[in-house]
Amino acid sequence: MMTDDIKEILVSEEQIDAMCKTLGKQLSDDYRNNDKPPLVIGLLKGCVPFMTSLIMHMDIQIELDFMVASSYHGTNSGDVQIKKDLNCSVKDRDIIIVEDIVDTGKTLKTISEILSVRGAKSIVIVTLLDKPERRVTDITPKYVGYKIPNEFAVGFGLDYNEKYRNLPFIGVLKEEIYKDGD
Ligand code: IMP
Ligand code: MG
Repeated sequence: MMTDDIKEILVSEEQIDAMCKTLGKQLSDDYRNNDKPPLVIGLLKGCVPFMTSLIMHMDIQIELDFMVASSYHGTNSGDVQIKKDLNCSVKDRDIIIVEDIVDTGKTLKTISEILSVRGAKSIVIVTLLDKPERRVTDITPKYVGYKIPNEFAVGFGLDYNEKYRNLPFIGVLKEEIYKDGD
């Protein structure tokens, strides 16, 4: 079973569910009086479970779009590349970027700069997890689910070599899994 590979649970299913409710309500309240629906941009693929739950807890009009940025190979971060771009314009839009985890902040730094150059009216970041110890950029997510220590997390969208995204909680893998991997 996939769960046999987990050493420790960092954030439980119940905690994630409660956090998605809280953040969804907060975002709804913050954008309720907006003239135009905010554009919620998910960074694939890690955003999928979090974004799904989050937007179901938003009771205001929103629009969705997606981007794919890649920076991670195994557990080492590298340069950020846009692999799939948005379908719609961000000009004069209020943008809410949804991310699974902010680590070094390089991905969000690159994406925020691109959206800003394209004329976004405002840009905020909502992330399920934050590893502030690892930051090497000036990126500060406005909405954070959970701050976690400097450990490699998997589950609820977060992967190790594309696996474990479908775990319903956030956990840390046993050491032997990394040894067996690539
Ligand atoms: P950053 O650009 O260094 O902030 O990295 C952001 C991306 O790295 C995230 O969207 C994740 O895909 C990946 N990442 C960073 N830390 C972890 C982790 O602990 N587990 C799984 N993926 C991670
Ligand atoms: Mg990833």
